[in-house]
Amino acid sequence: TTSGLTFEIQPSTQRKTPQERAALLESPGFGNVFTDHMVTIRYTEDKGWYDARLEPYGALSMDPATAALHYAQEIFEGLKAYRHPDGRAVCFRPEANAARFNRSAARMAMPELPEDLFVGAIETLLGQDAAWIPTQEDSSLYLRPFMFATDVGLGVNNPSRSYMFVLIASPSGPYFAGGIKPVTVWFCEDYTRAAPGGTGFAKFAGNYAASFLAQAQAVEKGCDQCVWLDAVEHRWVEEMGGMNLFFVFGSGGDARIMTPGLTGTLLPGITRDSLLKLAPELGIPAEEGRISTDQWREAVASGELTEVFACGTAAVITPVGAVKSNQGEFTIGDGTPGPVTMRLREELVALQYGTREDTHGWIRSM
Ligand code: COI
Repeated sequence: TTSGLTFEIQPSTQRKTPQERAALLESPGFGNVFTDHMVTIRYTEDKGWYDARLEPYGALSMDPATAALHYAQEIFEGLKAYRHPDGRAVCFRPEANAARFNRSAARMAMPELPEDLFVGAIETLLGQDAAWIPTQEDSSLYLRPFMFATDVGLGVNNPSRSYMFVLIASPSGPYFAGGIKPVTVWFCEDYTRAAPGGTGFAKFAGNYAASFLAQAQAVEKGCDQCVWLDAVEHRWVEEMGGMNLFFVFGSGGDARIMTPGLTGTLLPGITRDSLLKLAPELGIPAEEGRISTDQWREAVASGELTEVFACGTAAVITPVGAVKSNQGEFTIGDGTPGPVTMRLREELVALQYGTREDTHGWIRSM
């Protein structure tokens, strides 16, 4: 029982057999394979959250006039479940995802979901589907909680008064095929992701919809990912594709890291936050700041900026090897993953996979 709600359990009668599951877990890619069950919870203004259930994974049926399909009131989260060496199924900082979910909800005029329901939904799903947590290196069970508007009607004067929360889970291997190979990024000067006062800090579906064209342009320019710049001056670096960016200045014992500050137009990543806390414990000072595209280019040229990497839940830490833009291209360091990037990655991954002691209280048994 959570927030006065009990999850009704309706186990699937068509679970995959252990053999079928093993075959699906062999090389699942990212976000392609789903477990046997899902969790759904309903909300109306009158009743609040109600009808929490675990049910077989399957299609949702909805009226064509469902508000989310027209006006995009939809938010989501992403976090992972890991199988620790001691056999426990754990999540990394799920209450941080619950808190961000509610900040996203508030921005989109949606109801907040109590943290115990958010975490309880994960516990309930893992209670049935924990066998779907892959155990190969760099693999995990990616959890995707989301919420969308379910009022039927095309009126646009008010936010929806009813919502559905859904949690699905997807066993996943490394996000970028080819492991931790550095990506090449494109400075995106033609499109912006988020403007002041907009929805940039929210994990709002529309932010991602708005990114695909820029991402396609980056690929057309021979890059893997686009780098978003601020919407006012088009020169301050915000984030990369769907991940936060970190800049490494100096090297050896003098290395320090910097990530763009949370101006409201970029996503407050939980991996980003974790690295800001972890790095200083490893003797690497960490700060929030800002950097322009010109400063990035000049600091690489002078040798002061030695490494750049992106971070996020899905891809963990991804080195940035080279930059292309309308002003030409340049390589960061020698274009291979740098030592600070790899050190931080190793530390974070060890914590998440349970080979390093959790001194932060970030690991939660589910
Ligand atoms: C993450 O880094 O976890 C992301 O936000 C990417 C996700 C949308 C697939």
